[in-house]
Amino acid sequence: MFIMADAFLPFAFPSITDAEIQEVVASLKSGWLTTGPKVQKFEELLRAYTGAPHALCLNSATAGLHVALLALDLQPGDEVITSAMTFIATYNTIEQAGGRVVPVDIDPKTYNLDVNLLERAITPKTRALVPVHFTGVPVDLDPLYALAKKYNLRVVEDAAQAIGTCYKGKKLGSFGDTIVFSFHPNKNITSGEGGCVITFDEALAQKIKVLRFHGIDRDAWNRFSKSGSQEYDVIRPGFKYNMLDLEAAIGIHQLPRLEEFIQQRTQLAQRYMDAFADCPAIQLPQVPTFTHEHSWHLFTVQVKPEIAKLTRNEFMQAMKEHNIGTGLHYQAPFLYSYYRQKYNFSTQQFPHAAQLGECIVSLPLYPSLKTHDQDRVIMAMRTILA
Ligand SMILES: Cc1ncc(COP(=O)(O)O)c(C=O)c1O
Repeated sequence: MFIMADAFLPFAFPSITDAEIQEVVASLKSGWLTTGPKVQKFEELLRAYTGAPHALCLNSATAGLHVALLALDLQPGDEVITSAMTFIATYNTIEQAGGRVVPVDIDPKTYNLDVNLLERAITPKTRALVPVHFTGVPVDLDPLYALAKKYNLRVVEDAAQAIGTCYKGKKLGSFGDTIVFSFHPNKNITSGEGGCVITFDEALAQKIKVLRFHGIDRDAWNRFSKSGSQEYDVIRPGFKYNMLDLEAAIGIHQLPRLEEFIQQRTQLAQRYMDAFADCPAIQLPQVPTFTHEHSWHLFTVQVKPEIAKLTRNEFMQAMKEHNIGTGLHYQAPFLYSYYRQKYNFSTQQFPHAAQLGECIVSLPLYPSLKTHDQDRVIMAMRTILA
């Protein structure tokens, strides 16, 4: 008898319905493909969602971090403190904005920067803090903002992985200084590619608007709409970081579904927790003790090689042989050549992040993941880790 092999199971998959598809088609038919009314609408929805006065869409969270940090007008030698464990975009954008990257090691339980280590990393050159809400777990923001106030530092939250996360009953983006979300297809909501900067600072918002589109002092909508003017001035060499209407068309139907997506992710995460509660070969994710709501962007486990009798990379390969995709989020970013060579970073400086970078792996998690597919993941892991 011919038995069909199970199809390859990706570790992430966007939930796109007819509403998103029809909205993109409508944009295509309208002839307005680039930044226009749909981006305006998406920004309005993001303002309503966060309650913040400014929501500025861009073509990625990387672009958002870049312009938000550039808008701080860092001077040579200025330091920006961030988490030792993050995606490399966090480090790169600090560098590109002219800052020096100052990593702080993580709390080995939550994987977020350990706020107890923060104060000793602050020097007279420190200008900003870039906490990263890793996997959808919030950073302990109260003590972090208290330090920012004490030392007069700006805060740019890298919330690329954390739209929908709540800290002590408040959504990320509904308070604070400046917050950046990502709408990459793997994230909790998507616009294809895309991101946005939420800020409570009017002056910063104006600088970001200029920087995201060529340094022009008025945005494309103004120029191309009937009421707009064709003339403009350039006040700073800016970037082409604008979001397309084709992207916003997707985003405006995703944002209203965020809560539903998070509920589905939470249920699936709980199933993994239950399935592996008694598995000594892996470390399950742990959550902070303060009140919060995890948005479960990633479900990460740590492979314990001495018990599992295989490394993380071997585990990922074995899962692939079971036709199951997993994600590597992330190798320790301070060990990449550029950063190691420039700053002489070493494993010993950030031991928890270094250790995590060796063992961490993300399991398939997305709203449309079927129970029987999740069971496939669980069965494969039981076989591999037995
Ligand atoms: C922590 C973190 N920061 C920044 C980014 C960059 O987001 P984007 O892909 O939208 O540029 C990501 C994307 O994975 C991320 O995980």
